Amino acid sequence: MAKDKLIFFCQNCGYESAKWMGQCPACHEWNTFVEEPAHPKKSQSADKAGAMGRKSVPRRLSEIRLDETNRVKTGIGELDRVLGGGIVAGSMTLIGGDPGIGKSTLLLQVCRALTDQGMHILYVSGEESLRQIKMRANRLGTFGDTLELLCETNLDTIVQVIERTQPQAVVIDSIQTMYNEAVSSSPGSVSQVRESTGVLMRIAKGMQISVFIVGHVTKDGSVAGPRVLEHMVDTVLYFEGERNASYRVLRAVKNRFGSTNEIGVFEMRSDGLAEVENPSEYMLDGRPEGASGSVVACSMEGSRPIMIEIQALVCRSNFGYPRRTANGTDFNRVNLLVAVLERRAHLNLSSSDAYINIAGGVKMTEPAVDLGIVLAIVSSAKDIPLDDKTVVFGEVGLSGEIRAVSMAQQRVSEAEKLGFETVILPKANRKSIRLPKDSKIRLCPVESVSDAIRLIAQGKR
Ligand code: TYD
Ligand code: MG
Repeated sequence: MAKDKLIFFCQNCGYESAKWMGQCPACHEWNTFVEEPAHPKKSQSADKAGAMGRKSVPRRLSEIRLDETNRVKTGIGELDRVLGGGIVAGSMTLIGGDPGIGKSTLLLQVCRALTDQGMHILYVSGEESLRQIKMRANRLGTFGDTLELLCETNLDTIVQVIERTQPQAVVIDSIQTMYNEAVSSSPGSVSQVRESTGVLMRIAKGMQISVFIVGHVTKDGSVAGPRVLEHMVDTVLYFEGERNASYRVLRAVKNRFGSTNEIGVFEMRSDGLAEVENPSEYMLDGRPEGASGSVVACSMEGSRPIMIEIQALVCRSNFGYPRRTANGTDFNRVNLLVAVLERRAHLNLSSSDAYINIAGGVKMTEPAVDLGIVLAIVSSAKDIPLDDKTVVFGEVGLSGEIRAVSMAQQRVSEAEKLGFETVILPKANRKSIRLPKDSKIRLCPVESVSDAIRLIAQGKR
């Protein structure tokens, strides 16, 4: 028998190479190459399911009927919004995130919400024992009787169980623990993960089962091993958050059935994940009053404005080389904004350290937070506290100009709703904003960074 050809795969990004390499030329990770068979034997279950499980006959576009009922609302509002309105039957969703962030908890809660609607769910765990899952389930509350658990890592067995029990949704926790006997490499390797996902994809499409798979992420933030996996599935959700902070953000990075701009915010409690309906209040909780270097900025996350507190600490540098750090926002952006301040607003920061932090550990990279960062730095450097009831948004350009941002109206309305009294915003956005007659909010349009600095320095907020 001819020997199977072996190829080296990068376990991080799926790059293929005929020879072993120390560093992957595609993702630049070190020591990630592992030898795997070039063409894994055809999986038997894949053959059985056939291409998408049906006969391959082309159909006219007009003949295809859309069934509105094939989207199921989970009842977990934050998740439904991220998914684009609910779970689509026959879809495959990948949930990625760091270990311990709450992926299994979230999916078990999804199971609970779906069993409440009488759906028949199969939860397959390759990581935890039945008793461990039961213990977790007890913390979450009571479950309907239509949830079945299976501790298994052999994909063929799982496929047989799915075919026999015909559940409406399946959870695979996690894809890295699954193995397919037809592929000789070890679980978690590129070929295994790719092949297992393929098999599950055919099941999802062929039997119209919604499949959720959990994927672990590597240190650089992508789903471990195969990026290929992201191409295969319909929806990719990332679950992120600081481990020591209790809130979690669910973000869609790919969604074939909805927008990728929405985020869902949850809080990890002792009885599982609770939805956070008003993230702004949550993020601003515990804000220092009258302290310099603290600015409330408004960032849009999808269709939702979220208020965040930007903190800056500027102090004299003890070394010749000033330090800059950015926590929760883009480091390069902070450097750029410091440069703009030095050149356009003549603020000398060359012998000062500047530390920027988005309070609460969220990540905000929208350009509209630029003005917030700039004013936080100025406020700290000049020790001028901003009024507590002021919100700031606007993009800063390289000439120090404040550029218009999208959805200014929503941002202002949200600020008003939360009891803020003053909004510092780009001048170009001013005319598009309609305020209700009895509105108490004061709009302070600014054209340039120097304008904004003058405004806060005068205390005319
Ligand atoms: P888990 O869902 O196991 O994370 P993942 O599957 O992403 O690895 O979440 C584990 C963490 O969540 C664990 O550190 C404990 C915490 N947790 C709570 O705080 N409250 C709860 O009700 C549950 C179930 C977990
Ligand atoms: Mg888990």
